[in-house]
Amino acid sequence: MSYSVDRRDPLTQPQGVEKGYPGTALRWPSQPLHRRPLTRSELTGPESVLRRLAPVRGDLAGHGDKRAIGQLIHLRTRVVDEDGTPVRGAVVEIWHCNAAGKYIHPNDDNDAPPDPNFYGAARMVADDDGVVELRTIKPGAYPVPEPGRWWRPPHVHFSVWGRIWLSRLVTQMFFPGEQLNDDDAVLNAIRDPEARSRCIARLAPDGPRNALVYDYEIVVRGRRATSNLL
Ligand SMILES: [Fe+2]
Repeated sequence: MSYSVDRRDPLTQPQGVEKGYPGTALRWPSQPLHRRPLTRSELTGPESVLRRLAPVRGDLAGHGDKRAIGQLIHLRTRVVDEDGTPVRGAVVEIWHCNAAGKYIHPNDDNDAPPDPNFYGAARMVADDDGVVELRTIKPGAYPVPEPGRWWRPPHVHFSVWGRIWLSRLVTQMFFPGEQLNDDDAVLNAIRDPEARSRCIARLAPDGPRNALVYDYEIVVRGRRATSNLL
């Protein structure tokens, strides 16, 4: 017995090596993709992602003397399936650079300064409404270590695990009103403008006095599935 969902529209997904971004060749399969039907064994086990991946903090910004430098923001991310049903229990990993555009990673050779009070990454579990909330600071833009001169706009990386190990979506969230979004090779690898706009968070009208709140929705499968952005 096998299960299927609507195929993704290729226009909503990157299609391999992007012009001006040679690094995509290292992140894209060299062979054509093979569609593998999901059978009962794939859908039932191993069950608990959290047995191996424990939740890690919902706050990257710190407090008081230990507060990270930058614009305080809250990210409210909702994980849903193709019918809009919340994916309760989805494991959501989030990481981004600091306000100066520096990642906590040895491969980041950008000469921007590190921030000792910025934590860099979180792993959370979606609640009954499919929501995870992260308190953090707005990431900065950074220059891409590729030939030519271009900068990544502020963005946040996401990895969403479904109820099984084989179910994983890796994507990036962008901020509204950023001029660098217009020419970003990663965001513009999505040919469909509606799918592209779904990768941009929405500024919420509510929230605490000292932070901007952004709402973001991740659709894990189906024709409106969020684009895979590595
Ligand atoms: Fe990045």
